[in-house]
Amino acid sequence: MRRLTPDPGPTTVERQLDEYKPWERPHEDRPFVAVNFAATVDGRAAIGGVSGPIGSAADTAMLAGLRTRFDAVMIGAGTMRAERYGRIVGDQEQRERRERLGLPHDPLMAIVSGRLDLPWDAPLFSEGGQVLIFTASEAEPPDTATSLRVVRHEGKVDIAAALRHLRAERGIRALLCEGGPRLHAELQAGGWVDDLFLTIAPKLAGGGAPRILEGELPAAAELELAWLLEEEGELFARYRRR
Ligand SMILES: NC(=O)c1ccc[n+]([C@@H]2O[C@H](COP(=O)([O-])OP(=O)(O)OC[C@H]3O[C@@H](n4cnc5c(N)ncnc54)[C@H](OP(=O)(O)O)[C@@H]3O)[C@@H](O)[C@H]2O)c1
Repeated sequence: MRRLTPDPGPTTVERQLDEYKPWERPHEDRPFVAVNFAATVDGRAAIGGVSGPIGSAADTAMLAGLRTRFDAVMIGAGTMRAERYGRIVGDQEQRERRERLGLPHDPLMAIVSGRLDLPWDAPLFSEGGQVLIFTASEAEPPDTATSLRVVRHEGKVDIAAALRHLRAERGIRALLCEGGPRLHAELQAGGWVDDLFLTIAPKLAGGGAPRILEGELPAAAELELAWLLEEEGELFARYRRR
């Protein structure tokens, strides 16, 4: 892997993330928020309904590396239904590495769901760790082997209140949002995304798959490029909100 900017030269995912310490930069009323997406050159965020076929092994390494550097990970229900997550940091060695950095053993997994229509047989709900669901539904979740808490909101999930809850009630300093496109739109519309990690895979998908952001923004968000990496034609960008 090479770094194209700043300071062009050879690098690795590990070296790039080594100095990346989002937990040191919480806001007073919400966590530091980063979003991670992979897209094709034609801007699609899914191939065949899922994100897995977009990125390479280097993209998987970037995602796994990011997961070791945040207190919590957040996804929308659409992403949970499509991707059927398992335990967010599945590897014991990586969980121990988190602890050495002063992060909780497992990242808290936060899911935003209107209807609480989730794939309860997905491995996330049986493999351990901690799940927190923000929902507008009054339905009761089933019993799960993984520890599960539910925070209920009226009508729809108030994302600003959810971020405040994560900071004030759960001590979350840094939150990694892994999508999907509609949750991303809400986070950007609120001005709450500090960093955007975007992998651009040298592929075209076509079809009607969503882009990385699906929804209205009050105004175009201005970004600046914090770094750009390349490996075998795949680009790894990190943008900051200007
Ligand atoms: N390429 C990538 O990096 C990447 C990353 C993530 C996802 N994806 C792809 O994106 C697709 C899924 O897209 P999506 O837009 O449906 O995903 P999403 O944003 O994860 O999910 C949308 C759902 O989240 C819930 N939600 C979001 N905001 C809410 C609020 N304020 N209040 C209540 N509920 C809220 C709703 O759930 P309910 O339906 O339960 O009401 C809504 O239907 C999949 O194909 C997935 O593979 C790609």
